[in-house]
Amino acid sequence: MTRDTLRCNRDRLWSTLMDTARFGATGRGGLARLALGVADGQARDWLVAEAAALGCAVQVDPIGNIFATRAGSDANRRAVACGSHLDTQPTGGRFDGILGVLAGLEVLRTLADAGVATGAPVCLIDWTNEEGSRFAPGLTGSSVHLGLLDLHTALALHDGDGATMGDCLAGIGYAGIAPLGPWDFDSYFELHIEQGPVLEAEGLTIGIVTGAQGMRWYDIAVHGAGGHAGTVPMALRHDAVVAAADLIGHIRTLATARNRPAVATVGRVEIPGASRNTIPASALLTLDVRHPDSATLDAIETGLADAARHVEAAHGVRVEMARVSNSPPVAFDPACVAAVRQAATLCGHRHADIVSGAGHDACAVARFVPTGMIFVPCKDGVSHQEHEDMTPDDATAGADVLLHAVLARAGVAG
Ligand code: HGY
Ligand code: MN
Ligand code: MN
Repeated sequence: MTRDTLRCNRDRLWSTLMDTARFGATGRGGLARLALGVADGQARDWLVAEAAALGCAVQVDPIGNIFATRAGSDANRRAVACGSHLDTQPTGGRFDGILGVLAGLEVLRTLADAGVATGAPVCLIDWTNEEGSRFAPGLTGSSVHLGLLDLHTALALHDGDGATMGDCLAGIGYAGIAPLGPWDFDSYFELHIEQGPVLEAEGLTIGIVTGAQGMRWYDIAVHGAGGHAGTVPMALRHDAVVAAADLIGHIRTLATARNRPAVATVGRVEIPGASRNTIPASALLTLDVRHPDSATLDAIETGLADAARHVEAAHGVRVEMARVSNSPPVAFDPACVAAVRQAATLCGHRHADIVSGAGHDACAVARFVPTGMIFVPCKDGVSHQEHEDMTPDDATAGADVLLHAVLARAGVAG
């Protein structure tokens, strides 16, 4: 076995993916492992035990990020990091984020099996609350660790039941004491399913991710006038849901009006005190807008404000809009992108460059540390759904490319 012929263990990786899917399993083949819930805590405990059993030094920072470091022959060199997230959407799949963490563990296991000493340390990371579904915004753990989000602001974030991140971290035992970064990593690599249809449609095994589009999240509140469903004439109504529907129409027009269409999603609509025979007084919306170009995102944001004023005038309502997060478009580090491309070539996988439509912790990390991403196909391009699926061969191909990208940066001792 030479360094170049080193490969991950397909059956072990796949059985690890399947076995750990018991943490938060839904009855329909998916995962409901919301950040810092019981199932997330169980998955974390399992990961920490596995990493410790490999001889890794395990540290946890105050926002719950887990760092499992395998020593290198030269302790003075900066660590090569890899990882992703173990938390999922409410009706999530078994691979979004989870593949990146468990493939990173497979890399450590493969190095241990082969008795390979790397020059630089190798650090496996599980980032807290990448999804942002229970606590908004997403990318919370990586953003706090890198100084993009204040720790105390993050600890005070609360879910729909009023539980704060700080309380939930303490509840599962992951309010750590390791120093917040930005840690002086040499580089960071993240393996992830594409969450889109391109690789599968083009018969490609590996996506060499060159960058990611920008992503902005907004909270929108529409305040009208509640009333009795039977007694208020239509002409006298200030129905918050009707106004919200009008605003959603404007949002769709904004997103599709440009030569390179953006994507815009109203993923959550809540009507406080909803009742079938009461005119809604308020409607609370979430909005996710994405585009590869910041100037276009700025133009859409201006359009959103204009649309809000129009809806206020047309329906006699008040519209409040707050930007919750702003993840700018990202170009990954050319040397890391080249390392991924060379690893894909070494492993003999059909590959092509691709830009990520989804956001990832790598997008935050890339602002401070040389970063690269590796994509593998997922079935029908479906993600954030319980039927998210992929093949063992593609999972292993991604893990092998991750292994050799990490080795390219960490080097092999001796
Ligand atoms: O929303 C995203 O792009 C990521 O999957 N959390
Ligand atoms: Mn993800
Ligand atoms: Mn996701």
